[in-house]
Amino acid sequence: MTDSNIESILHENRSFPPPLAFAAKARITPAEFAALNTEAARDNVAFWTRLAREELSWHTKFKQTLDDSQAPNYRWFADGMLNASHNCLDVHLAANGDKPAIIFEGEPGDSHTLTYRQLTAEVCRFANALKAQGIQPGDRIVIYMPMVPEAVIAMQACARIGATHSVVFGGFSANSLRDRINDAGAKMVITADGGWRGGRSIELKSAVDAALADNGKTVGKVIVLKRTGEPVAMQEGRDLWWSDVVKGQRDRCEPAWVGAEHPLFLLYTSGSTGKPKGIQHSTAGYLLSAKLTSQWVFDLRDDDVFWCTADVGWVTGHTYVCYGPLAAGATIVMYEGAPMHPDGGRFWKICEKHGVTIFYTAPTALRALMKLGDGIPAKYDLSKLRLLGSVGEPINPEAWIWYHTVIGGGRCPIVDTWWQTETGAIMASPIPGVTATKPGSCTTPVPGIDMAVVDDNGNPVGNPEQGGWLVVRKPWPGMLRTIWGDNARYLSTYWARFGNCYYVAGDTAHQDQDGYFWCMGRADDVFKVSGHRLGTMEVESAFVAHPRVAEAAVVSRPHDIKGESIFAYVVCRGTRPTGTDAEQLSAELREFVGKELGAIAKPDDIRFADNLPKTRSGKIMRRLLRAIARDEKITEDISTLENPAIVEQLRGRA
Ligand code: WT7
Repeated sequence: MTDSNIESILHENRSFPPPLAFAAKARITPAEFAALNTEAARDNVAFWTRLAREELSWHTKFKQTLDDSQAPNYRWFADGMLNASHNCLDVHLAANGDKPAIIFEGEPGDSHTLTYRQLTAEVCRFANALKAQGIQPGDRIVIYMPMVPEAVIAMQACARIGATHSVVFGGFSANSLRDRINDAGAKMVITADGGWRGGRSIELKSAVDAALADNGKTVGKVIVLKRTGEPVAMQEGRDLWWSDVVKGQRDRCEPAWVGAEHPLFLLYTSGSTGKPKGIQHSTAGYLLSAKLTSQWVFDLRDDDVFWCTADVGWVTGHTYVCYGPLAAGATIVMYEGAPMHPDGGRFWKICEKHGVTIFYTAPTALRALMKLGDGIPAKYDLSKLRLLGSVGEPINPEAWIWYHTVIGGGRCPIVDTWWQTETGAIMASPIPGVTATKPGSCTTPVPGIDMAVVDDNGNPVGNPEQGGWLVVRKPWPGMLRTIWGDNARYLSTYWARFGNCYYVAGDTAHQDQDGYFWCMGRADDVFKVSGHRLGTMEVESAFVAHPRVAEAAVVSRPHDIKGESIFAYVVCRGTRPTGTDAEQLSAELREFVGKELGAIAKPDDIRFADNLPKTRSGKIMRRLLRAIARDEKITEDISTLENPAIVEQLRGRA
């Protein structure tokens, strides 16, 4: 890339109208988009009433759309009854039973397809197996699995019998798994011997054993899928093989009809305290938002092959692997392994092999692949791609332009989708045949969503140059319902700041002169490492669990591939380590934190100090630490520091 190219990217302010060929066939036309927005603006509740009636299959029709009597604990369609798995599977059987639902690609290259009929049969068999193991509606089941179709089968089977699943990302440690199992009071864990990643088998069962070792009080049964074939220890009376429990089970299972508000799943995510929150989602509202956004944003048509690369351990894998596309009757691709295995062409090879038409991934993956050069994607036929998506963190214009030109051949719109674990589904995104895109902006809210940027008093920020709080001013069906077991935290985290009137996302944003939203990152002590959400306090508590660590402060700093990386300041018991002791301890602490939380939480930088800079009231001056980590000018008043010389030490110069 020439210097002038780089210049133009740094100052990227072009706007990209929807490519004509795409727009000509798009599912939503500009007129339809305008009509949806007008309808939602006229009467938001009537808008959702109509869509919930049209888009979901109900066992018992709802009479009341929105119950705001306990606001901000909103309830949607609460007197209706339905089943999520019925809405994702059975509804397609008559017309599309033989259509591929899941095209699976294992990391070693094994591949198979499940049609809607086959997937339904597998889900039913496993659902019957769960029932045979004593699982009842409302029971919580933790799923800790690799990215294989059985992960989706397990989730759908839970939904089918009214059990609430809580998927824990396979990269999380045994400790993190234990906390989540205990907080949810899970009755069962569904796992695998392992999964393939980067050419290695990642052990899962051993982590489950460790997680259950001291106090697996609530867990009675563990179901183990054989994936890698590595030997695992099976505990008599507790552990059962997947293949054994499904043996002889019928391939039909009447769905459990549950109330619309029945918790479909919990998904733990990081916040600004040390304890992850169990975000609780509903059945009907969640599914409605998942299905509609799949159709609006991804323009799903009958012959599409949709690949969302997210793991089912994250919300993206719930909404755009397991629920949204299946509710919309689409064909999805699931890939088990690492993006770079055996080389940086794997993603593009999968696109070619399976004829992927819609590709949805994270900026961190794009940056890593972009770094390998244009020669790699050039080796593959990417001509079937027609739409590209991005999610999880702001996408930098350089990666956006690369995605657009090198991967999309200039003909694919890019949908930069802003949303959160809490919002359940995409909140702001271009509509691909309608919205002119600007690299780095998630553009405007999807129909029915009332988003705004407000100042500290809750007033809209009028000035396009000025940032503020990103808020949602009206409830929406896919919103989280509460934090499992801690409604007070739900209220204080998301609603208290503006008097329970606005949902507070925790992001800062600004809106430009065209009303486009630019999300600029978190306003709280949460950061995004490779698109994964981590809390400052979580990582700090992992550090202080190490016997040599007295105190730790963690901040993030920009990283060209990960987006952000973790920078830790550590105060040790006794004297400050130096020389080889410091080097060895750094390496040890990296591993230790990785073991406590999971590999994604490993810090990139560790700096030892005699003490941490604190205010008179004893609060760590995180902004100062952030400035130091980023080599920025210090604007804080450091005169009150007990030992101002500490700043030089923190900078690594003393
Ligand atoms: C946080 C939510 C959304 C599902 C995956 C992550 C950041 C997400 C974007 C985007 C800028 C984004 C926000 C948000 N974020 N998408 N398109 N542009 N920032 O879900 O782990 O709950 O994280 O991710 O900061 O608050 P999550």
